[in-house]
Amino acid sequence: MNTMLKSLVAIATIATSVVSSDNPEWDDLRVTWGPNFDTSFNQQPRTIGEAKDQGFELVGASTCNGSGVYNGFAYAKNDNFYITLLYDINGYIAGIQLGIPEQVATDFGQPTEKLKPPFNLVHDRYVTSAYFVDPSKICSEGRTKQSFDVEGTGTNLWLQNGTTPDDVVLIPKNQSDLVGTKWTEGRCFVTMGMHYWHNAVPDLDCETFFPALLLYNEGKLNTFGWVLLTEMMDDSFERTGINYVAAFMKSVPKCIRKMKTKVSTMHIYLTSTPYLNEC
Ligand SMILES: *[C@@H]1O[C@H](CO)[C@@H](O)[C@H](O)[C@H]1NC(C)=O
Ligand SMILES: *[C@@H]1O[C@H](CO)[C@@H](O)[C@H](O)[C@H]1NC(C)=O
Ligand SMILES: *[C@@H]1O[C@H](CO)[C@@H](O)[C@H](O)[C@H]1NC(C)=O
Repeated sequence: MNTMLKSLVAIATIATSVVSSDNPEWDDLRVTWGPNFDTSFNQQPRTIGEAKDQGFELVGASTCNGSGVYNGFAYAKNDNFYITLLYDINGYIAGIQLGIPEQVATDFGQPTEKLKPPFNLVHDRYVTSAYFVDPSKICSEGRTKQSFDVEGTGTNLWLQNGTTPDDVVLIPKNQSDLVGTKWTEGRCFVTMGMHYWHNAVPDLDCETFFPALLLYNEGKLNTFGWVLLTEMMDDSFERTGINYVAAFMKSVPKCIRKMKTKVSTMHIYLTSTPYLNEC
């Protein structure tokens, strides 16, 4: 080993030990997988202040209770509702939404009628919400700087599965706790993790396919994502041809195999090191 390489390794070792002792497990928020690290895994702002600095604007209700449909202040950039971020009353990250403009929903057939909810109409778009902190506290207490520093992006993952933010599903942080649930194990993909899809059984009714996926690495939830059974024409999504879906699902449901379009996903990383996601 030459001297330069040795010092690099030394620095990397120090950096790793600092990360493991001081940083929370969910130390980041990055969106969209891609083969190129420079143009993918896009870091998202975790406070309203940073969001505004980066050109994000309030796109939902000006009250924290999101018209009663979701909790938090909703921010998006350039009206890209596919990546809508939710912040608590103190301005700390609280969740993320997938918003689909009504016209796009009509044109692409997603969300289907059977997925309303988890999608709910807010103004002129259908939104589904994921929360990183207890949804009941987003608009009442919020987080302090200290809890944000300690906890990072959040404490747990809740997916909304009803018309109000009181109707949420708590996702197990431990992969072992998925046994016996309707989350079906898919395949491992390096830089993503071990995929889990909701009720991806052979005779799945595609119109009911839950729009979220979960990803575990070293047994822990550190990534999740959205999935839509249509080809979304926006680079916030990853698009997979039907022949390649088997790289992510162990047994591809019949109705997905018959699809004429691609499947769209959006991987959402709660970790700053997606390249270490090796299942
Ligand atoms: C949302 O909050 C505002 C202001 O606090 C309140 O006036 C309104 O009734 C609330 N709406 C719902 C649906 O809870
Ligand atoms: C969402 O609710 C529907 C209807 O009750 C249920 O069938 C489905 O399993 C739920 N999804 C999750 C992820 O719990
Ligand atoms: C998750 O797994 C770890 C290690 O197996 C265990 O110590 C911990 O108690 C588990 N957490 C929960 C919430 O079950």
